[in-house]
Amino acid sequence: MQEHETEYEYEPFAQTEEYQRVNREIVHGWVNTIVSQGAGGIRALVDVACGVGTMAKLFLESLPAAWPRPVVTLVDMSPKAIEQARVRVEPEATSVDSICARVQDVELPQAGYDVAIWGNGIHYLTADEQEAALSRLRPAIREGGWFLFNSAFTDESRPPETLPFYRAQIAKAVRYLQSRGIRRERVEARPSSSTFLPAEYYADLLSRVGFSVQEIRSVAAQLYQTAWEHISGFTQYATGALHGYGAEVASQAMRYAVGPAIEEYGARDAEDRPYIQRNWLAAVARVV
Ligand SMILES: C[S@@+](CC[C@H](N)C(=O)[O-])C[C@H]1O[C@@H](n2cnc3c(N)ncnc32)[C@H](O)[C@@H]1O
Repeated sequence: MQEHETEYEYEPFAQTEEYQRVNREIVHGWVNTIVSQGAGGIRALVDVACGVGTMAKLFLESLPAAWPRPVVTLVDMSPKAIEQARVRVEPEATSVDSICARVQDVELPQAGYDVAIWGNGIHYLTADEQEAALSRLRPAIREGGWFLFNSAFTDESRPPETLPFYRAQIAKAVRYLQSRGIRRERVEARPSSSTFLPAEYYADLLSRVGFSVQEIRSVAAQLYQTAWEHISGFTQYATGALHGYGAEVASQAMRYAVGPAIEEYGARDAEDRPYIQRNWLAAVARVV
């Protein structure tokens, strides 16, 4: 995945009300768990695959007001993402440093952090890469410290009644590309962003690399048309759903197909606006 070389465009989705709301709810839950288990403060936080810094920012905002602001390390393989994250996180932190690397290769200091967060990104890695990444993160967290992650790409993330929406979006996107004479460039292995592993798999993975699993819960969100258009335009999402096509045309076609697919298959809220429910897995693990 050549994220370094393509335009980084996660921010529009990360800024949607739905994304902020569901991630805020998850992060508040994490902080409540940490506080309720007797933590008195957090000195150092690492946010891996930080994107535009949404999770670190929400986390820092959720900490008890009396706690000192932590030192924050941002890790992402996209330099553009780190640049955008730094702007968001700096006002909330004592200081911010960054490492541009893939999480499965990153060199972190031994027992250097009280908390590691990996928001909305673990599913982009293959099972082997996930294990390699967690084996790097585990020793970087001090004893008694925490590992927090979430993902809306698990087996439970797409309720069965929402599957027709995804199928329709892809079918309409492919028809749109065909109507413009665009064909698949290559047939390749399915990227890991379209692999939906069950919660049970993640619990097992955490235990296997030596974490103690404290909590795994599911948080539901209603995502409306604009949010779907933003996420569908995000290259990693679009090429995961529509593999074999170029990144730019895949994004265009996936965006185009949201409107007709959600009109046809969306559930309706009290104001008759169509939405699709998506379930986030939120996990808390600890080094004990
Ligand atoms: C969907 S965004 C999530 C960003 C942020 N953590 C959040 O929750 O909003 C995924 C991020 O993971 C980064 N990423 C994907 N694979 C990665 C890897 N193997 N190592 C480091 N970063 C990676 C991408 O560059 C992107 O910024």
